[in-house]
Amino acid sequence: MQKNIKQKAKDHFNKSSGNWTGQYRAKNYNAHVLNVRKHHVLRFVDECGIKGAKILDAGCGTGEISLELIKRGYDVFGIDIALNMIRETKQRIEEETDQPFHFLVGDISSLPFNNSFDIVCCVGITAYLENIQQTIAELVRVIKPEGYLIITIRNKYSISSMLNVVSIIKRCIGRLGWKCGIERSEWKCYSPWWFEHLLRKSGFELVESIGHGFAIKMDKRCLFSTKYFLIVINKMLEFLSSFCPWLNLCGEMYIVKAKKFVNCE
Ligand SMILES: C[S@@+](CC[C@H](N)C(=O)[O-])C[C@H]1O[C@@H](n2cnc3c(N)ncnc32)[C@H](O)[C@@H]1O
Repeated sequence: MQKNIKQKAKDHFNKSSGNWTGQYRAKNYNAHVLNVRKHHVLRFVDECGIKGAKILDAGCGTGEISLELIKRGYDVFGIDIALNMIRETKQRIEEETDQPFHFLVGDISSLPFNNSFDIVCCVGITAYLENIQQTIAELVRVIKPEGYLIITIRNKYSISSMLNVVSIIKRCIGRLGWKCGIERSEWKCYSPWWFEHLLRKSGFELVESIGHGFAIKMDKRCLFSTKYFLIVINKMLEFLSSFCPWLNLCGEMYIVKAKKFVNCE
């Protein structure tokens, strides 16, 4: 029987739980992109200005973001579909802090909570969701009125995916040679404007959004092979994007901060 993307994600992250933290520590362009994303997510959380906020880290992975939030004094709940990811998170958090952390194994498309969170962070998950509308509806439900959602998508129209010739050809001829649990070409990518429209329709107002990850890549091989070159290009474009907002729409990752309407139930 064909596995759906959710099952594939679960299997993939259960198998690769030992490597995820290392992806943030590696000295390469991918690690740079992940760390920039983390930086913006944490900034968005802090700018909500809710001291000791109750935060759901939806799809917490190995706790890279949860751990930082706990250190900053937030009351963090982590949920992930992959048991091994949760095990890693638990171990890291116990080693690095003595603050309480609540966690459970589960699917973010069906959450065992009511509207109890000040903030929900959903970082790096949307690529693996079968039905994004259903998941957004579920996230709205668990956020308090006037609470915040901080969520990331992979941009369908980023410079890197538009010019990723190898991936486009692979998709066209169905020859998927990328050796990882989930083929890159199966990742769900969305256009930023479609996604923002979905959030508005679901009961949010947009507060801020930012795109990043501007370098052109060709699968594992980079078009310009030196990682430092990619990082410098990326940094320059990130800087420029603060003056030219449309540049944000060309980044590989798109991060949105949205606020739930008071009367949205
Ligand atoms: C790319 S990792 C991101 C982890 C973390 N948020 C971070 O930014 O470091 C994606 C995580 O989402 C989890 N995941 C994927 N689909 C999920 C779902 N439907 N419900 C809960 N977790 C899910 C995976 O198990 C994995 O740990």
